[in-house]
Amino acid sequence: MTTVQEHGVSTGVLTAMYNAQKTLQLYPIENEIVGRSLKDLHDQVERVCEREGGLAVWVAGNYMFVNDVQVRLDLADYAVLAALRESLRTHGIGRIELAPKVRRDEWIVFLSGLAETPRPGAEPLESFQRRLNEADVSSIKIGAPTALFTGEENVEAVEAARRTYAYSVKAAREVMNGVVLGKAIGARRAERAVLRVVDQVMQDRASMLGMLTLRDYDDHSLLHAVNVAILSVALGEHLGFGRKHLFELGFAALFHDIGKVLIPTTVLNKQSWLNEEEWRMVSQHPDFGLLMLFEVEGFEEPPYRAMLATYEHHMKIDLTGYPRVIRRRRQGLFARIIAITESYDTAISRHNKRYKACPPDEAIRQLRESETSSYDQVLVRAFVNMMGIFPVSTLVILDTGELGVVVAPNPNPEAIGRPMVRIVASSDGTRIGDGPIRDLTETDPDTGRFVRSIARSTDPERYGINVADFVA
Ligand SMILES: [Fe+2]
Ligand SMILES: [Fe+2]
Repeated sequence: MTTVQEHGVSTGVLTAMYNAQKTLQLYPIENEIVGRSLKDLHDQVERVCEREGGLAVWVAGNYMFVNDVQVRLDLADYAVLAALRESLRTHGIGRIELAPKVRRDEWIVFLSGLAETPRPGAEPLESFQRRLNEADVSSIKIGAPTALFTGEENVEAVEAARRTYAYSVKAAREVMNGVVLGKAIGARRAERAVLRVVDQVMQDRASMLGMLTLRDYDDHSLLHAVNVAILSVALGEHLGFGRKHLFELGFAALFHDIGKVLIPTTVLNKQSWLNEEEWRMVSQHPDFGLLMLFEVEGFEEPPYRAMLATYEHHMKIDLTGYPRVIRRRRQGLFARIIAITESYDTAISRHNKRYKACPPDEAIRQLRESETSSYDQVLVRAFVNMMGIFPVSTLVILDTGELGVVVAPNPNPEAIGRPMVRIVASSDGTRIGDGPIRDLTETDPDTGRFVRSIARSTDPERYGINVADFVA
């Protein structure tokens, strides 16, 4: 898509821009040095425009592009270009388009504006634009940073994941509304939704897991069903299940709590402790679910594995959960998987007043420290391995002082504490719209040390960051 341009051609324009800006700051406008630097800038721009039919400068994360060609930052001009990039960034400018003949007075307005610090409180790009308008600057056009250079593939995967997610929620809603009205579960629609989840997970697991951060829907039980389906299919795929088994697992996960539709919402949504009678009702949802899945319409035979998983998902490894069983048995594989994925989803999306939702890495920590009697520890390890210590959508502070959002586990499965991170704020606290994605296993060739490591995770609310903006 983009290439690194041979040195000198595009950097020339950018260094000329920076030099002119600097001289304007240091000398009065009528000074000869200013005149020379503006003339040099003018010539450089004109030359590029003549040769390439126009001139556009883009800033995307730490990269700069001139006419879609990435500018190679050499040591010699690194400081200059980094300074220019920073001043554009402080004014919220991600794009500059230049006409072949920019007037001298237009350059002066633009460059002296760039040298100033934006007024606090005001939207920097807007104020800058206003300044240009007031001075009749028409040959220099500016714009906000765009997602153009953040990797189109990723944008597409996230788009596809979002559509799959919306489709699944819709399908689950229709099926469950039908059940509430006394209809049997229509298998076809749910089947299509689950297959889409399976295919999407197989194609790009990270983008599908990013959807867990979406909170646009108010119905928690629907979100829980879809989230547990996504997590379970992802874990199944990690364990090497084939498509057919993934489908069965996803179907089981989507309906693991279907029995709850028979329990009054006043009981389900109760914010205080349940009394004995209420608790008895809630603890019957696995039995109800089992019976309801018998009635599924559209399959040749009842979905036995889903029925079993629904019945067993609260049983616990040591059978101390519910429903109580008298005879010795082993909790089935699907139920053991769902027990883990549903506890994770419950932890990250708790919505009642008694408990606050925990950050993803905290939910992982709780699972790792869980008692061996509750969850299958082999599966817990596999789950942690798949999600990483810092799952997708965790906001982290790096030892460089930068702030980042985890966008994918590291492709190297050994590096579970070193995910792929999108930088969202630089070390001086400057927000970056769509910063570059960094691989935390990257090492400095001179010292052999990691370039970046996670110092700790942090609460997105404290920084006013909506992590869904970066992964969903
Ligand atoms: Fe349940
Ligand atoms: Fe559940």
